[in-house]
Order: sequence, then structure tokens, then C-alpha cells
Amino acid sequence: MGASEMFFPTHVVFGAGSLQELPKHLEALGAKSPLVVTDPGIVKAGLYGKLQGILGAAGIAHALFAEVHENPVEQDCLAALEAYRRAGADSVVAMGGGSAMDAGKIVRLLVNHEGPLSQYDDLAGGAAKVVKGLPPMVAIPTTAGTGSEVGRSAVVTLGAGASAEPHKKIVVFAPPLIPSIALCDPELTLELPPRTTAATGMDAFVHCLEAYCAKGFHPLADAVALDGLGRAARSLPVAVASPRDLGARSEMMVAAIMGAVAFQKGLGACHSLAHALTPVCGVHHGLANAILIPHIAAFNGDAVPERMARVALAMGAAGAGTRDLAHAAVARIDSLVRSLGIPTSLRDVGLREEQLPEVVERALADGCHALNPRPVTAADFESLVRSAL
Ligand SMILES: [Fe+2]
Repeated sequence: MGASEMFFPTHVVFGAGSLQELPKHLEALGAKSPLVVTDPGIVKAGLYGKLQGILGAAGIAHALFAEVHENPVEQDCLAALEAYRRAGADSVVAMGGGSAMDAGKIVRLLVNHEGPLSQYDDLAGGAAKVVKGLPPMVAIPTTAGTGSEVGRSAVVTLGAGASAEPHKKIVVFAPPLIPSIALCDPELTLELPPRTTAATGMDAFVHCLEAYCAKGFHPLADAVALDGLGRAARSLPVAVASPRDLGARSEMMVAAIMGAVAFQKGLGACHSLAHALTPVCGVHHGLANAILIPHIAAFNGDAVPERMARVALAMGAAGAGTRDLAHAAVARIDSLVRSLGIPTSLRDVGLREEQLPEVVERALADGCHALNPRPVTAADFESLVRSAL
């Protein structure tokens, strides 16, 4: 076995109402004039207004870019970079879900690193080109799911004209992209509608579960993942049923952070399929994971029975016997998803049978399943998708 590497480097500020502390943290970072990167939904929901009030009261002038798309595209980042330069900004405050935070990371990268953005693609060895310092960044999540606030990667779709392969999704993955501070205020998630809460929350749960079951030696990530999935299993149904339950919202925000900290170990087949499904039928990433995970858990269960038994215990199962507990984990995952009132079949989210070959091809090409505890063939992927249809 080769040596393993473990990192837990993100500075996290966590707590209800912690958004109020943003000025203090910006000052500590030496940030005097941030560019706020967000999306139109955050402005409409009044969350940007809240941020604006806090910055204004502290006498911090800021510029705004609020046009990030649901899945960020290169043009979003270039336009935001332009806004950054025009305003003479010295830092980035990214507020929103994974999209706004990822776009903020790319802006931060491009301030001191020349384009084209395509050269920073992780598959093309992009991390080695991230060599200069990046301006400070505060990431403020408004969902509890992706965990992008603590992560070192950003997903962006390259635009036509700026790359040899237009509309290609790339991952930029480099430790300097980790936000200077992840400012996590669960109050910002109190207005999230139940369906978004469920989909993003299941993404967090699946991050924990897949990381825990992934191949590889990473006991620190395992411990974080196991605790995180228990929190998500207990709190997600509460947050969906009672959106303004601050305790459940806080637990889900913790679970999201823990999921993203843990998945540096790796993910698995569920994420390969989710990554394949979104471009084919447009399904939300978290919802794809939610629909698939009961099937993936059943597929993986016998390959890692001891791990699945511990998953069952973390999800509140009692009893003895590894096999029985492993089966209980699969049943509990299934009933968790069914308790959330979201679609439970891929047909319900628009997948058609004739799209199966494309989904299988894309899933096979995705890197996540390399660490799945049970090897996955094209035939396996096909039967997994069929079982979830
Ligand atoms: Fe995910």
C-alpha cells in the first residue's frame, strides 16, 4: 500500500447569525473592497439584501456580480472578473449554492492567472499551473449540500469560442482554491423550499456514504463521513417537514461540510451516474443522487458488509449481526429517500429509455466510480439505471 495523504485545511466559521461577523473576518483578511459573486435567486430571496446591509453598516464598499447561472459557465466567470477589475476589488465574497461558490473560486483564480481557463482543467494537469497567490475569498453557503465552501475544486462549463471543445465541463482542482473562510450561517437556509432542501441534503448524505464506503485508507475521512451521514439521516426529514427548524438546518449544514471534507477520500458509482444524468436529462445533481442511492447501496452492500453495518448503526438501527445490519442500512436509506416527498424514479425526472446507452457511456468515463467498493461494469451501470427507472 502506498502512503495516504490527509488534509483538513479549511477555516470554518459556523453558527446561526454568523453572517453578521463578515466585516470582522474581511478585516482580518485585509479585504477592503470585495466583489460579491452570487446568482439572481439569492438577490430575489433577499439574502443579498441582508449581506448588503451588513457590509453597508460596517462601511465596506463592495461591487456586485449577480448573474451566475445554475451550472456556472465560463462567461459568468469572465464577466465577474471584468466587474472585479472595473471596481478595483481586492477580494471575493461568494454567496449561494455550489454554483456561485464555484464561480467565485474561478474569478479568484483568474485575477492573478492568465487565461484561457481551459488550461486549468484538472484532467490536463491544471493544478500545476496554479502557482501564484490568490486574493482572499469568503464562501457563504445558502444551501446545505455541495460543501463547496470547504472544498478545493470548482466545476465550470467552458464557453464557445474560448476553448477547442465548447460546452465542455471541466473541474479545476487545486488546494489554493480553498476559500480563505467558509462562513456557514444556517439561518440563510431557513427559506429553502422542501424539494431543494431534500435534493441538496441528499447530496450531502451521499457524499458521506460514498466517501465512507470508498476504497482507500483514510480513517479521518471515515470518521467524519460516518458522523455526517448520521446527522443527515436524522435531520433531513425534519428540515424538509419543518423548514424553519433551526436545529435541523444547523445539523444539515454541518453534514454538508462533513460530506465535502470526507469526499477528499473519494466518492463512488452514485456520483458517476449522477454526473452522467444531469447533462442527459437535466436532473438536479442532488436529486439524481437521491433517486440512485438506494440502488447503489443495495449493489455495494455485500462488497463492504462491515461498513454498511456501521452505516446502519449510525442511522439508528439496532441489532446484532453484520449481514442483518448491512441489509438494514439499505432499507433505511430507501425509507429515508421515500420520506422526503421527492421523485423516486428516473422516469419521473425525464429520463427516457433510449437515453440509457449515453448515460452508461458517460458514467463509465467519469472518474468517481474508480473508488467504488465494488467494481462497476457497463452492464452493472445499465442495470442500476434500469432499476431506478
Ligand atoms: Fe455531489
